[in-house]
Amino acid sequence: MTSPVPITGDAACDVPELRLPHRLPIPRYLETVYWWAYVHPRAVHLFEREWLVNLILFGNYGRLRDRALAALGTPIHGRTLQVACVYGDLTLRLRAALASNARLQVVDILPIQLKNLLAKLPPDERVTMLQGDSSSLTTADASFDQVLLFFLLHEQPEPVRRATLAEAMRVVRPGGKIVIVDYHRPARLHPMRPLMWAVFRKLEPYAIDLWCHEIEHFLPEALPPASMHKETLFGGLYQKLILIR
Ligand SMILES: C[S@@+](CC[C@H](N)C(=O)[O-])C[C@H]1O[C@@H](n2cnc3c(N)ncnc32)[C@H](O)[C@@H]1O
Repeated sequence: MTSPVPITGDAACDVPELRLPHRLPIPRYLETVYWWAYVHPRAVHLFEREWLVNLILFGNYGRLRDRALAALGTPIHGRTLQVACVYGDLTLRLRAALASNARLQVVDILPIQLKNLLAKLPPDERVTMLQGDSSSLTTADASFDQVLLFFLLHEQPEPVRRATLAEAMRVVRPGGKIVIVDYHRPARLHPMRPLMWAVFRKLEPYAIDLWCHEIEHFLPEALPPASMHKETLFGGLYQKLILIR
């Protein structure tokens, strides 16, 4: 595991390689299922367009992003962990909302995604990036005040999803917050339901798990949250879940 890469002007000069000496292996599900979205060298070029991300979310990107940010605070205080990069301006806005003494760390398994994020963000000593696997973080217990998981869980096979949630619970401090935004089972007569079902069957095979189970189902039994608050959006197709450890 590497040490965090601070986002400074110098670090920006270190792109293309981001100086990640101990490259972690790419998880099998990313290579076999999501290679076209994240792993392929052209993926970033294709998907790093806000209108496209917004289209994929039926025009809800801004609303979902803003709900996630609002749940983290205004401004955002303390130490925040964003697990996995995302296309669009979520992290830019997260950074802009950080209080002056706040800290943000972004962990992603793919150097190409870290590199893309680094290119999007202005230099900022409050922000660090780290190559890491969400299912086995190297961070110490209770290191963060809050953790953000934005549309990550639906892409992970169940054992990885369970491990990711267990790690999020482990690294957030007692009383700290985990903010999750992801898919949810839509209302029975939701007009997008047949389309999303077909998309999941064809392209996102693990996402259907979030239609069959509440996220609570994947949480670690040994470390249950102190409280949970779920809100659904867009006819139930999306959810925002706030867990307090
Ligand atoms: C957050 S998810 C989906 C984001 C959403 N489609 C978007 O861009 O708005 C995509 C990211 O998750 C990362 N990722 C997937 N599995 C991971 C894991 N086990 N550990 C860390 N990052 C992971 C991928 O590398 C990718 O950058």
